[in-house]
Amino acid sequence: MKLRLIKGMRLVAATHNPGKAREIAALLDGNYEIVTAGELNLPEPDETETTFVGNAMLKARHATLLSGEVCLADDSGLSIAALDGAPGIFSARWAGPSKDFALAMQKVEERIEETGSKDRSAWFTSALAVAWPDGTCVVVEGRVDGQVVWPPRGERGFGYDPIFQPDGHDLTFGEMDPAAKDAMSHRALAFDRLKAVLID
Ligand code: IMP
Repeated sequence: MKLRLIKGMRLVAATHNPGKAREIAALLDGNYEIVTAGELNLPEPDETETTFVGNAMLKARHATLLSGEVCLADDSGLSIAALDGAPGIFSARWAGPSKDFALAMQKVEERIEETGSKDRSAWFTSALAVAWPDGTCVVVEGRVDGQVVWPPRGERGFGYDPIFQPDGHDLTFGEMDPAAKDAMSHRALAFDRLKAVLID
């Protein structure tokens, strides 16, 4: 049987962040009723896996186990070649409890300089997992390649956007029109793949 997400059905977004849930709803073209794990009072699991795919699956499965509903989870971050893929799955954690991304970007730059490497290539990854109560799980990944620039440029976007310049473009994600970023981002690519697999 081909797995499908039927338009109009309820999907639990395995997040406690209402902003992320709104973004998920929009990336699914408003075709699903999205309720968050936070709204259902589901506890968040520890992200103990070592890959984006592993953590997305862990979060989706955990929410499904507790809710008995179809759940969607994402895991994303910035990987830097000169830092052997760091911060990677620790991207959010590099910003600390106060979510200070100016600090996290500074840390990225200092670590690259410490290596002495001239390689500034980097990539954003987004893994998306959908889990069903019968244990089935589908996972996809999107990736966008680029360069780390310094100093940070642009006030738009969030997280590491001001230091990431995608290949083939002169602007950082922080400088770009959000619609331009959304058209090429790791997250958009992952959602396109998910839709191609699960939605008619
Ligand atoms: P998650 O919410 O655990 O997946 O953490 C993802 C972290 O990766 C975020 O807190 C951001 O720091 C970073 N990140 C992921 N996607 C983007 C993006 O599109 N722009 C900037 N930073 C991002």
